[in-house]
Amino acid sequence: MHFLPVLFPIFLVAGCAAGTVSRDGVVRLVGGNSTAQGRVEIYHNGEWGTVCDDGWDMQDANVVCLALGFPGAISATKGGVFPSGSGPIMLDEVTCTGNESSLADCAFKAWKLTDCDHSEDAGVICSLEEDDGNSTAYTLDRSCEIGNSLRALFESQTNCDYFISVVGKDGGSTSKEIGAHRLILTLNPEADFLLRGEGSKFTLTVLDECIPQAKIFIRYFYTQKIKVTLSSLKCIHQMASTYKVSSLKEYTSQYFSVLISDDPSFKRQVELLNYADSSSDNRLRDLCLRYFAWNFESFSQSRALKDLQFEQLLSLLSRSDLVVSSEWAILEVLQDWLTTSRVEGELLKEMVESVRFPMMTPEELLKIQFNVSMYEKNKSFFQDKIIQALMFHSVSYQVLNNYVNLSTVAYTPRVYISSAWAQSVTNTPFYGYNYQYLNTPRQVRAESKSELTQWNFAYVPNIQTCYNYGFSCSVDSLPAFRLFTSNIYPYVNYRNMLLVKCDGATVTGMQEFQNDLASDPATHNSTGFPCSSGSYTYFVVVRPTYYLN
Ligand SMILES: *[C@@H]1O[C@H](CO)[C@@H](O)[C@H](O)[C@H]1NC(C)=O
Ligand SMILES: *[C@@H]1O[C@H](CO)[C@@H](O)[C@H](O)[C@H]1NC(C)=O
Ligand SMILES: *[C@@H]1O[C@H](CO)[C@@H](O)[C@H](O)[C@H]1NC(C)=O
Ligand SMILES: *[C@@H]1O[C@H](CO)[C@@H](O)[C@H](O)[C@H]1NC(C)=O
Ligand SMILES: *[C@@H]1O[C@H](CO)[C@@H](O)[C@H](O)[C@H]1NC(C)=O
Ligand SMILES: *[C@@H]1O[C@H](CO)[C@@H](O)[C@H](O)[C@H]1NC(C)=O
Ligand SMILES: *[C@@H]1O[C@H](CO)[C@@H](O)[C@H](O)[C@H]1NC(C)=O
Repeated sequence: MHFLPVLFPIFLVAGCAAGTVSRDGVVRLVGGNSTAQGRVEIYHNGEWGTVCDDGWDMQDANVVCLALGFPGAISATKGGVFPSGSGPIMLDEVTCTGNESSLADCAFKAWKLTDCDHSEDAGVICSLEEDDGNSTAYTLDRSCEIGNSLRALFESQTNCDYFISVVGKDGGSTSKEIGAHRLILTLNPEADFLLRGEGSKFTLTVLDECIPQAKIFIRYFYTQKIKVTLSSLKCIHQMASTYKVSSLKEYTSQYFSVLISDDPSFKRQVELLNYADSSSDNRLRDLCLRYFAWNFESFSQSRALKDLQFEQLLSLLSRSDLVVSSEWAILEVLQDWLTTSRVEGELLKEMVESVRFPMMTPEELLKIQFNVSMYEKNKSFFQDKIIQALMFHSVSYQVLNNYVNLSTVAYTPRVYISSAWAQSVTNTPFYGYNYQYLNTPRQVRAESKSELTQWNFAYVPNIQTCYNYGFSCSVDSLPAFRLFTSNIYPYVNYRNMLLVKCDGATVTGMQEFQNDLASDPATHNSTGFPCSSGSYTYFVVVRPTYYLN
């Protein structure tokens, strides 16, 4: 639709030339290979006639071409180039100066006064482009201005012949009618649904809180342009989905992950999660939960966490990619959430089940009965959990193996970023290709707690670096980070993680080390979130898991 106003004059003139509307002095081209060339015919006194080629030159041809809406003439042809005409010969000895708007304004003998025959019919070949092929071309593109003009037309709300009333789904107050222009809406196939109203009215049904956004939505069909922010994202996506405006739906979906970090209060993100749940949009739901999990530390300090529904918090606490200082911190968050939620009985149990008690230290387990008020609500349940966890810390693997399945989630660490398990690292090659060293506890279990594992760490930007360090790598995984240890312990496996933070605050990327290598999530397509500043900081998180074969 951007082209339309530009094409209009051309179409109108061409339409006249084709004989639909004929006025004196109008010209047309006949018998050419394309619409831009042919024998020249001019309309006069109710009939079409030809032009004699005596004195026919480029200036005359230019007048014809310009009048037909072409940028100019390439050639003025003499008789014989195009098929001869029949009927009257209207003009002879035409002499134009080049600035006439019609051939009839040029000098010539007189209408139908001629000594020529049809073997001398004049013709033209008009150019299609301004460009002569030699000079640098510049294109004047005012399509944006057309968008702006249409926007202004819409905003003016004048000359409207079609009216859209916006109604809230759940009885929300109806806004003022939005005026529209049937012709403009017709130009956009995606606006088809709007025109299916009764007479000149359509009722747009939206979520109550989206009523104020309806105008932006309608305006999109005028301008093909829309600004999406975290606060308007939900409503625009909802309207686009409901009314199957696929271009807009795709566009908004694409921006979920981009905009999700825009609200530090987490309020909008929780709204998005609610929207994802109510519209069964699993992709969006997963995106929100991943964002909450990766940024759990700041999320748990926000008031927005309190607004999570039971199922939502449960889904979140079930994730192993939850980034948190320790399991104890999760218990505290849960306890805080429960003070306002009144969840009890089986539901409370289900929620507390998501806490990984064996991942707490014996000291933390001891504190539960003194410092966790919900302990009082079901002592026996908590006591079972505490005993189970204390067994994990103290009983030998061989014995444990007879009673406990260590592959279940309760024995799997999350992404604990306390200084014991996590360290910041840099993406610069270490001087002289030595490794950087990191030390972490050997394992979560309390036994041999003081024993440390030494880790070797290196940044691997290119293949040459792999050679220098003496291992092989593939280009696809680079740039990457390498983390390994030569301390091997029975029954302990490490599933270490590389974290990327944006601007030192938001976790935007996460990548597990596989065969000691983790691709840089900031430069690889990953399941992460964009970071507009491109300012990344990196962390490695060591995560011991247990096995028994
Ligand atoms: C029109 O097309 C024919 C066949 O392609 C060609 O021989 C002829 O030269 C063309 N005429 C003009 C004026 O371009
Ligand atoms: C066309 O140009 C001539 C001189 O080249 C001038 O005298 C005449 O006024 C011009 N006519 C128009 C309509 O601009
Ligand atoms: C196009 O460029 C060529 C080579 O620079 C030059 O000889 C020729 O005159 C130019 N033609 C036009 C129409 O400017
Ligand atoms: C934990 O409980 C102990 C003993 O009741 C108390 O002294 C301490 O202040 C509590 N700590 C917290 C953080 O609640
Ligand atoms: C406490 O938990 C046990 C099972 O773990 C359950 O049978 C009992 O009903 C619970 N009691 C209360 C008061 O919730
Ligand atoms: C241990 O738990 C894992 C995960 O729940 C399960 O796949 C596996 O079958 C369990 N092993 C045994 C021996 O029950
Ligand atoms: C990354 O994603 C973009 C857009 O989805 C795609 O064009 C590009 O090819 C992808 N790059 C790789 C290395 O997969």
